[in-house]
Amino acid sequence: MKTTIDQVSKYIDQEVTIGVWLANKRSSGKIAFLQLRDGSGFIQGVVVKAEVPEETFQLAKNMTQETSLYVTGVVKEDTRSPLGYELQVKSIEVISESVDYPITPKEHGTEFLMDHRHLWLRSKKQHAIMKIRNEIIRSTYDFFNNNGYVKIDPPILTGSAAEGTTELFHTQYFDEEAYLSQSGQLYMEAAAMAFGKVFSFGPTFRAEKSKTRRHLIEFWMIEPEMAFMDHEDSLVVQEQYVSYIVKSVLEKCKIELDTLGRDVEKLEKIQAPFPRITYDEAIELLKENGFDDVEWGEDFGAPHETAIAKSFDKPVFITHYPADIKAFYMKPDPDRPEVVLCADLIAPEGYGEMIGGSQRIDDLELMEKRYKEHNLTSDAYQWYLELRKYGSVPHSGFGLGLERTVAWISGVDHVRETIPFPRLLNRLYP
Ligand code: 4AD
Ligand code: MG
Repeated sequence: MKTTIDQVSKYIDQEVTIGVWLANKRSSGKIAFLQLRDGSGFIQGVVVKAEVPEETFQLAKNMTQETSLYVTGVVKEDTRSPLGYELQVKSIEVISESVDYPITPKEHGTEFLMDHRHLWLRSKKQHAIMKIRNEIIRSTYDFFNNNGYVKIDPPILTGSAAEGTTELFHTQYFDEEAYLSQSGQLYMEAAAMAFGKVFSFGPTFRAEKSKTRRHLIEFWMIEPEMAFMDHEDSLVVQEQYVSYIVKSVLEKCKIELDTLGRDVEKLEKIQAPFPRITYDEAIELLKENGFDDVEWGEDFGAPHETAIAKSFDKPVFITHYPADIKAFYMKPDPDRPEVVLCADLIAPEGYGEMIGGSQRIDDLELMEKRYKEHNLTSDAYQWYLELRKYGSVPHSGFGLGLERTVAWISGVDHVRETIPFPRLLNRLYP
């Protein structure tokens, strides 16, 4: 019976054939232990010299790392392995040899591994991170589909900038200039006026000269947008959504979390509601924690966010930032127009801002005023203004950065390991 590693529990004490790669091995004179992987998982194959033809045992002993093969054997329960099963190998058929595989079980430097990302993805830790990423994506679709949202795909090539003009990738669009999308938000607002509740999931680009463990040049964002929802309503969606994806990963990725050594007790606490503090309260909290020179009106950096997160064991919303340090489309607080109805959701354990969101300006006159202040004179923004002209309604939305979320849930230090082929300040290879 031909099967895959993730299906072996259906074949206890039966003979199966699996297409695999040899991840690692160790052997003595009488027995060889093969660490086999097929993409769906990892399993140990045991080859006992006394139980197989001599040439099979010699083959098992001499196969090199990353050789591809069909292995045939009997599935046995094995409580010591994370999978719970091992394979008693009967025969081996090599498909293709692998000579001098560059990534050996010894330690390698990060730059070396990044240069070999096309191969590094095969390793156990990277495999676990990508499986968790996949589960976050899967449960995202689940959550929004179950709650009446329509998936809408905004364009990647655009003539407008949602998040300021300094970090744009410029490209030629026949005889006009275009940019790679920084955020689908403006288009998602149009979509919300057509479909009520919508979400997008796609790549976004920021020509940011940042070289931190939280910044990628190309990253993926989930951007929900909801008509007839205010700022407070949006926070409820956000905390329910984040709780849902954490719960899904805890349920579906036990082996992967174990491989990564993730402290799951910390993740088990992630249940809505999440704490909310205002920007003003955050300033106070920072002052109490030794940031004496932080001043009202400044944006927070990574050290500030980490310090704030330390006071909570769940993600925390920081709300009502000064209007001057936020985007042009955010709705001012009617009681206090110098701050806007927005929130950043800060992840626990120092992973930083994972969501940025806000209620949007729905008033045409105020939006026209903002256009003037921000010098949005280009024709490219006219359509966005029209959304305020034809049946404008209160609406809110947010963007969750997938890679920062994967980093936090997986417990890995740097976002470069949370995307298959990271685009970093100095890296376009492989
Ligand atoms: O806070 P940002 O810039 O918000 C927006 O783009 C809004 N238009 C979203 C919306 O309301 N629809 O980005 C949202 C999130 C951040 O909280 C962060 O998680 C992630 O996107 N992000 C990055 N992730 C990796 N590398 C970067 N350079 C990132 N920039 C933002
Ligand atoms: Mg932000």
